[in-house]
Amino acid sequence: MMKKSIDYEKLISYGVRAPSGHNTQPWLFSIESDEIHIHPDLTRTLPVVDGDNHALYISLGCAAENIILAASKVGLSGDVSISESHDEATYLKISLSPDVAIEKDELFDFINRRQSTRNEYLQKQVPTEDLDALKESFELDGISMLTFTESKDFDTLQPLIIEGSNNQFKNNRFVEELVNWFRFSKSEAEERGDGLWTQCMGLPNMPSFIGNIVMKYFVSANSEAKRWKKLIGATAGFALFIAEKHDILHWVRLGRAFQRFGLTATKLGISHAHVNMPCEEPEVRQKLISELNLDPGFPLLLIRFGYSEKMPFSFRRSVNEVLINRKQETYV
Ligand SMILES: Cc1cc2nc3c(=O)[nH]c(=O)nc-3n(C[C@H](O)[C@H](O)[C@H](O)COP(=O)(O)O)c2cc1C
Repeated sequence: MMKKSIDYEKLISYGVRAPSGHNTQPWLFSIESDEIHIHPDLTRTLPVVDGDNHALYISLGCAAENIILAASKVGLSGDVSISESHDEATYLKISLSPDVAIEKDELFDFINRRQSTRNEYLQKQVPTEDLDALKESFELDGISMLTFTESKDFDTLQPLIIEGSNNQFKNNRFVEELVNWFRFSKSEAEERGDGLWTQCMGLPNMPSFIGNIVMKYFVSANSEAKRWKKLIGATAGFALFIAEKHDILHWVRLGRAFQRFGLTATKLGISHAHVNMPCEEPEVRQKLISELNLDPGFPLLLIRFGYSEKMPFSFRRSVNEVLINRKQETYV
C-alpha cells in the first residue's frame, strides 16, 4: 500500500487561526514523531487580565481543536492530552493516527470564516433549533455551557458586566496592558501579525500616538459602561462557559468547547464576541457564581451572540514564526 505523508505544517496553519486573548497568539508548536505539541509562549502572557494564565490555556485549547478538525479532513483522528512533567511549563500533546472510519468534521470549513464580531447586533432572536445546535456543539468532560436569552437573565448579567468593565477601566495597569496590544493601523497590524487591530474593534485606523491619546483621554469606565449597555440591548443571547475544575486540563477543554461553539455559530450565520469582564474580575466572578448558583463550577468565558455584518478579520503570525522545530515528513 502507498504510504501517505502527513503535512504537519498545514495542520498547524489551521491551529494559528484560533482566537486568543488580545490576539496574543501565546503558542509555539513543535512536531514530535506522531504528535504536534502546543507550548505556551510565556513571553506573550497577559499578567493583569489573566494572572493565572487560564485564558492562555483556553487559547491553546482553541488551537488544538482547529488542528483536530483539520486532521479529520486528511483521515487522521487526534487525541489531546497535557504533559505531565513538572520541570517545564505544561504543554498540549496532540497525537494523530490514521483512521479509516473518520469523516471530515464539517466545522473544518468554517475555521477561516470564524471571527470575533464586536459590532452591535440586530434586534433579532435566534431560532430554537439554532440555539439547540449551539448547545450541542461540543461534548467535553467537565465543561458545560448555559445560554441566556430572556430579558430577566439580561437583567442579572448586565450589572455584573458593567461592574467588571468599571473595575477594569479604573485600573491603569489593565488599560496599559490592553493598549500595548492595540494595533492602531492596518500596516502595523499586518506587519506584526498579532494584537488587536482597531478596525476589528469598530475603531478607525489612526496613527498610534493619536490612538494612545484617545484611549487615555476619551475612553473611560463611564464611556465603556454606556457602550456595553447599548451592545447588550441588541444582543440575542449570551453563552456562559463553565469549567468543573479550575486547572489546566479543564482550561484546555473549555477552549476546545468554545472553538466548536464559535465555528458552529459561524456555520449558522450567527455572530459572537466576548463579554468576559465578569469572569475575569475575581470578585465579580464570585458574584456571578452565587447569583447563578454555579458553585462548584468556574465560569470562564461569557459570550454574546446575535446577527450582524462581518467585520475585518484579524491578522496572524505565520507558521514559520511559531514553529520551534521542523521535522522530516512522517509516512503513515
Ligand atoms: C480566552 C480568550 C479570551 C478573550 N477575551 C476577550 C475579551 O475579553 N474581549 C474581546 O473583545 N475579545 C476577547 N477575545 C477575542 C480575541 O480578542 C480574538 O480572538 C482575537 O483578537 C483574534 O480575533 P478573531 O477571534 O476575530 O480571530 C478572547 C479570546 C479568547 C480565546
